[in-house]
Amino acid sequence: MLTQLKDQPADKILALVQAFKDDPRKDKIDLGVGVYKDADGKTPIMRAVKKAEKQLWEQEQTKSYVALTGDPAYGAAMAQMVLGDAVPMDRVSKAATPGGTGAVRQGFELVQLANPQATVWVSDPTWPNHLTILKHLGIKTTLYRYFDSETCAVDFDSMLADLKGAKEGDVVLLHGCCHNPTGANLNKAQWKELVALMKAQGLIPMIDIAYQGFGDGLEDDAAATRLVASELPETIIAASCSKNFGIYRERTGILMTVSAEAATQKTAQGTLAYLNRQNYSFPPDHGARLVTMILNDPDLRKEWEDELEEVREGLLVLRKQLAEELQKATNSDRYGFIAEHRGMFSRLGVSPEMVEKLREDHAIYMVGDSRINIAGLNKDTVPILAKAIATVGG
Ligand code: LMR
Repeated sequence: MLTQLKDQPADKILALVQAFKDDPRKDKIDLGVGVYKDADGKTPIMRAVKKAEKQLWEQEQTKSYVALTGDPAYGAAMAQMVLGDAVPMDRVSKAATPGGTGAVRQGFELVQLANPQATVWVSDPTWPNHLTILKHLGIKTTLYRYFDSETCAVDFDSMLADLKGAKEGDVVLLHGCCHNPTGANLNKAQWKELVALMKAQGLIPMIDIAYQGFGDGLEDDAAATRLVASELPETIIAASCSKNFGIYRERTGILMTVSAEAATQKTAQGTLAYLNRQNYSFPPDHGARLVTMILNDPDLRKEWEDELEEVREGLLVLRKQLAEELQKATNSDRYGFIAEHRGMFSRLGVSPEMVEKLREDHAIYMVGDSRINIAGLNKDTVPILAKAIATVGG
């Protein structure tokens, strides 16, 4: 039987991680996978996380199972962080999942269970794993235009024009903030227009929010998700704690659904429990427990929010510096968008050939579509990158 297996296509982002590791050049620069790095290239354990871990080690009495959808206190804390008071909590169902990817996967399975006829509309481009999971599950998928590769901003008119082709009950996958891979995001007015369109056409929003706190701040980054959830009858939300708590390997995410009425919430909650049971039974608890402790303890929370804010501001400084250095190096304003983009990533809009040349000649690694991880830079490598981009003709 195993001889029947075919080689699966490699995940491009993860393949890049390996290629970078294998590169012997000392001055190599990794702008690939979406992992935060400080100025020394380290991915630190956040201060509040370390403290919570110590407390947990001292206090935890058992490693027995918790619950199929995780600790309800985790669900409550996360629902509060993402949704605030946008919707009554008796309409919200929650299930802890292994990371944001687990939440996305469970969300798609929920769609399949609820409405096998639904098409999932996905931004072009999107996080590649969205597309491969959808394909793996056999869910009908259509791309909507999103990114204007000339201006490197959102092509909002085309986005709306494409979504007008969606039928009632179709699902629109949206990035709550910090669009991955482009870094280009809708403004407030555009979100309102999009909400109106989804409402008029009876579309179901599914929001993937994996970078809350990396764009305009913890609250501002949740504003679009809150608007959508408060205006539309039903919303599906997949959230990740990997990046904003820096607990990547703990696999900490959550799938939430907002039902139209409190009366139907119980069935949605039961479905989330069912899906967890079928796929992996109990979700991981360690990361979720740390998140709960941090969100519910005012001192730990403040320490975490402060550090997250330092990270966010650091990214903005790097964005500004890179836009300026590129202006100098290329003698043009065409990279000004980098300072406008938000989150960990920007898509530079240079050709795949240039991306390859940057890797081969300059040991600079970015995803093939020219997505860079801003956090992979520091103030010394920014001018190196800018010069290299100009050298390869960008
Ligand atoms: C990324 O886009 O680089 C991250 O979300 C990490 C991943 O799993 O791909």
